[in-house]
Amino acid sequence: MHKTNLTSPAEAAPQPIVDGSRFLRACLRRPVDRTPVWFLRQAGRYMQEYREVRKHHTLVEICKQPELAAEVTITAAEKLGVDAAIIFADLLLPLEPMGLDFEFQAGEGPVVHHPVRTADDVLALRTDRAGDLAYVAKAIEKVAAHFRERLGIIGFCGAPYTLASYMIEGGGSRNYIHTKQMMYGDTTAWCSLLDKIVAVLTEYCRLQVEAGADVIQIFDSWVGSLGLTDYREYAFEASKRLVHAVQQMGVPVIYFGVETAGLLGAMAETGADVIGLDWRQPLDEGWRAVGHGHAVQGNLDPITLFAPLEVLEERVNEILRAANGRPGHIFNLGHGIVPTTPVENVQAVVRMVREFQLETAIG
Ligand code: CP3
Repeated sequence: MHKTNLTSPAEAAPQPIVDGSRFLRACLRRPVDRTPVWFLRQAGRYMQEYREVRKHHTLVEICKQPELAAEVTITAAEKLGVDAAIIFADLLLPLEPMGLDFEFQAGEGPVVHHPVRTADDVLALRTDRAGDLAYVAKAIEKVAAHFRERLGIIGFCGAPYTLASYMIEGGGSRNYIHTKQMMYGDTTAWCSLLDKIVAVLTEYCRLQVEAGADVIQIFDSWVGSLGLTDYREYAFEASKRLVHAVQQMGVPVIYFGVETAGLLGAMAETGADVIGLDWRQPLDEGWRAVGHGHAVQGNLDPITLFAPLEVLEERVNEILRAANGRPGHIFNLGHGIVPTTPVENVQAVVRMVREFQLETAIG
């Protein structure tokens, strides 16, 4: 493997194509033959094959059986014809080795049984069992063996803020009241919680990279609940530490969040190679806010996948035109595919991204 040669600080100049998948090269802002494309939540309930597997297994069972997790990952990537495969796992898995039980309740999302609310709760969290997550690494090994250099293999984890919010709220949240109460009211406990999360996630990412992940995506899905001042004061530092720790392992990092228009510059300061953009601002504006020294990923509204094909194509082309052929754009959605999305429209977007490249190459 040649991972150590592939890491590049965000400010490094683009280099000629030498190796790596189209997706990996785009992460590093190297020239590509066409824009790579993949989709957030590309393996999930909108796909018939996944629903078949889910009839016989729970979500966590699929995650814990490398054979199944690899199968679901590979099937989705093959069926869509995308340039990267994200490992089938869940953001919440690291909670278990830290000592928090959770379950996915039908229609309600994740529920953590005993949420972290006090300094003592933080103290009780364990950081010495990240190795229990080796099942994710085993699944990555299988996916990497299947695709080799043909596709990028994406490992992932939650960002410290987003994972802390699940631990404290006990599930999804509208206003993040408990999270912000700890953040503002017991900053020592808050910092200690983030330190523990970073320690576990660093080891978790190391397992994934050693198993063959080419890139790690850090999901800060709920960071948009923070204003810029609070992001800088309470979340930035822990994210930055995680980003750097992963880059030290020799792979680039994609740092993704939603409703982040006001945070993009600060998120880029973590040093992440790629910043994920949601759909609420045009891609070129988002990229300018991030800075052209970073790659960007995005940013189609996932609900546009329900639009007539002509409208869908207009939106896809608008994004590609905004990227303007600049090295370092990875086509994706601004957030995850929702369960009732028509698969054929997702496949159509892959074709559109490919054809757009073809037209520009000829014309
Ligand atoms: O291809 C893929 O991207 C699937 C792998 C994947 C899952 N979860 C499996 C899953 C990934 C990348 C995730 C990440 C994840 N999990 C995030 C970050 C991504 C984002 O969209 O911001 C978050 C916030 C979670 C936590 C989580 N897991 C929630 C909120 C839910 C419920 C969502 C719902 O629609 O019910 C889950 C469940 C979950 N994780 C499902 C899948 C395929 C759907 C439920 C199921 O199959 O039973």
